[in-house]
Amino acid sequence: MSDRPALSPALLTPLTLRGVTFRNRIVMSPMCQYSAEEGMCNDWHLVHLGSRAVGGAALIVVEATAVTRGGRISPADMGIWSDAHVEPLARVARFVQDQGAVAGIQLAHAGRKASTLPPWKGGGPILKAEEGGWTVVGPSPIPFAEGSPVPVPLDEAGIDAVVGAFEAATRRALTAGFRVIEIHAAHGYLLHEFLSPLSNRREDRYGGSLENRMRLTLRVAERVRGAMPEELPLFVRISATDWAEGGWDAEQSVELSKRLKEIGVDLIDVSSGGAVPGVKIPLGPGYQVPFARRIRHEAGIRTGAVGLITEPLQAEEILENGDAELIILARELLRNPYWTQQAQRELGLPVVFPVQYERAR
Ligand SMILES: Cc1cc2nc3c(=O)[nH]c(=O)nc-3n(C[C@H](O)[C@H](O)[C@H](O)COP(=O)(O)O)c2cc1C
Repeated sequence: MSDRPALSPALLTPLTLRGVTFRNRIVMSPMCQYSAEEGMCNDWHLVHLGSRAVGGAALIVVEATAVTRGGRISPADMGIWSDAHVEPLARVARFVQDQGAVAGIQLAHAGRKASTLPPWKGGGPILKAEEGGWTVVGPSPIPFAEGSPVPVPLDEAGIDAVVGAFEAATRRALTAGFRVIEIHAAHGYLLHEFLSPLSNRREDRYGGSLENRMRLTLRVAERVRGAMPEELPLFVRISATDWAEGGWDAEQSVELSKRLKEIGVDLIDVSSGGAVPGVKIPLGPGYQVPFARRIRHEAGIRTGAVGLITEPLQAEEILENGDAELIILARELLRNPYWTQQAQRELGLPVVFPVQYERAR
């Protein structure tokens, strides 16, 4: 953190990645709202995302946004599989950027975890077409859980189509004005399904060895990077471990991160889990931070720390320790869109509000 003035908290120090400057290190994590129809961004999303930009976060990442219609987790997911999705998303990007934040978007394909109900309707699989369900795809015909649909394994042409869909989605996101793209390769969705030996039993060039299991994620990252201008950063969210015997783990995550760095990925957003149900996750404050630290040091790439980070001093310590460059908050920002102002207050800096709110200081 040598690039900041003495006595200035790391959390509130700007960071420049490529040509994009973040006003501090606070990021709003992508969070599905299950509030879209046919993938369309709407007023809910504008207010949800816009208020965290007003609240002072540096980067606002739009929730998992499906690159194909079948790649949605639920029928109410955000999508970017057609040009019609661009303008409503552009409205969000413009507003977020008018507030001095950077607008980012997470591009996703849910793979075998697609076709489910929103969480508040139980979150279970929608198995029948007449109930709004659809055929799910994956690396191998292994269902996520008991009662989940058996995914149809993607063939080479299907894999190529997924890679192409990520590229097309990137181009649309850039047209909409997003300045950070994040590829979702975590939480047991399609790219992670290919990475993990627990969901990938393929015997072709996309399965078996680590090299083969990484192939799809690396191909997607390469195509997305290729579609982006030099000056804009690319993030990849990974699950650093499946928390399961024989699954994806931290060592493989380091390898993957090194390869992603070579492709021109700028930051690894280090999450965990989601590949298989029923695992024991040692939840606790900052429980995923050690993975961010390991990847940052062993792969030599910038990281974002996420997961049960709730306190400004805790966040400051993560940065001071050199575990990560960015602090990524999800639930705490739902509770308190003004967490950044709280951090400014607690870390002894002047509280910055938009001019309209200055009398609240
Ligand atoms: C409502 C909700 C929706 C989420 N949706 C996404 C998502 O779209 N993409 C993603 O990568 N993670 C998603 N997550 C995970 C969060 O981004 C984050 O990684 C996780 O909640 C841990 O951070 P926290 O302890 O700060 O909440 C979601 C979490 C919540 C609570």
